[in-house]
Amino acid sequence: MLSQAFVALLLATDVLATPLVQRNKPLITVPIARRVNATSARDLLKIDQARAKAFKNKPAAQPHHGTVSAAAATFGIPITNEAVNYAMTVGVGSPATTFSLLVDTGSSNTWVGADQANPFVVTSTSQDTGNLVAMLGEEFLDQLTLGDVVIENQSLGAALFSEGFSGVDGIIGLGPTDLTCGTLFPDEGDCIPTVTDNAFSQGLISEDIVGISFAPTTSLSDTNGEITFGGVDASKFTGDILFVPITSTSPSSEFVGIDQSITYGAAKTPILSSTSGITDTGTTLLLIASDALATYESVTGAVPDEDTGLLRLTPAQFSSLESLLFTIGGTSFEFTPNAQIWPRALNTAIGGTDDFVYLIVGDLGTDSGSGMDFINGMTFLERFYTVFDSGNSQFGIALSPSTNSTSN
Ligand SMILES: *[C@@H]1O[C@H](CO)[C@@H](O)[C@H](O)[C@H]1NC(C)=O
Ligand SMILES: *[C@@H]1O[C@H](CO)[C@@H](O)[C@H](O)[C@H]1NC(C)=O
Ligand SMILES: *[C@@H]1O[C@H](CO)[C@@H](O)[C@H](O)[C@H]1NC(C)=O
Repeated sequence: MLSQAFVALLLATDVLATPLVQRNKPLITVPIARRVNATSARDLLKIDQARAKAFKNKPAAQPHHGTVSAAAATFGIPITNEAVNYAMTVGVGSPATTFSLLVDTGSSNTWVGADQANPFVVTSTSQDTGNLVAMLGEEFLDQLTLGDVVIENQSLGAALFSEGFSGVDGIIGLGPTDLTCGTLFPDEGDCIPTVTDNAFSQGLISEDIVGISFAPTTSLSDTNGEITFGGVDASKFTGDILFVPITSTSPSSEFVGIDQSITYGAAKTPILSSTSGITDTGTTLLLIASDALATYESVTGAVPDEDTGLLRLTPAQFSSLESLLFTIGGTSFEFTPNAQIWPRALNTAIGGTDDFVYLIVGDLGTDSGSGMDFINGMTFLERFYTVFDSGNSQFGIALSPSTNSTSN
């Protein structure tokens, strides 16, 4: 109850505030702020597509302590979406320097100092390992503070150089540990425990999992999300959580990858037959393979809009838009018409007008059959409670109070 009141207060004050720690349960719960940058929001689709391409071009995961190719060592941090970002506050060192970090399940290294005005500061707790990290930074082991929980000996990259970041200081990588393998130089054979791994191994949380809660918003800036390290927040979902194994299909298997199929409307028109893809907090839109998107366009009547780069409908077409049904692990999840659209109150922020309704379903840029045929980005994750259970290599999904929201 205290936690709900606290989160409500955060929502009301709309700030990136200090995390809340639940003492009775070994969980660490941290609020997340969503920010839309109106100057770069016109490039939403382009940025998401560039990120998708980088995921697909990433060299395959390296075996632990094996030989690592130069290509793997040069894979940096995935492209981040400057237009819409989700960030949490962490402290590093003692006394702590405070950083606002992008919450990213599509990468697993944690690094700071992207904003040269707020660099990494060496303190008495900082230990320089002498390694370089692939995003072109220096590796330090240091303490990381989430609220008043201190995680020791966390590997952090201190950026020497960065581009494409604005308003944030770096990334907290929540993805699978294997994504860190081969990211150090010269210790190329090493993999790096993630923040979640360290919190777990240090007994600060009782399970190596993160629970992720986001909600749709009509504000440019809103602290309407929450990450729970070590468990789930029962106040943020309804019914049971369905768990499915991380997919075995590469390259989706290297990320928080799942198998799903998608149909449209009461007629259950197939949009995407059962295939692999990923869920990703660093992608804004719901991207589907080009051939699947063509079917979606033909059943909805949506047309490409030059001003926003997104698909658009007239208000009349929108009134007859039907739900998409996602089938995951044999269970159907309804993605309502309202879930398929960009919040209309923010149309002008992406270069659109009030005359149209813009769709958040976009083109992945490649046809199906690639091993990564969809990316369920934030606009999908806003409608469900999700769990990345790294310890058991599984993904969980449940309905949430936002599933049927009509706020967009
Ligand atoms: C600290 O973490 C590094 C890897 O990130 C590991 O090699 C080292 O053994 C750890 N030290 C302690 C004291 O746990
Ligand atoms: C918004 O994005 C532009 C680049 O597209 C950047 O120059 C600007 O600093 C960003 N604004 C904020 C508040 O992050
Ligand atoms: C959403 O609405 C559907 C009916 O369209 C209903 O079956 C479902 O239970 C609702 N979900 C939630 C979480 O309220």
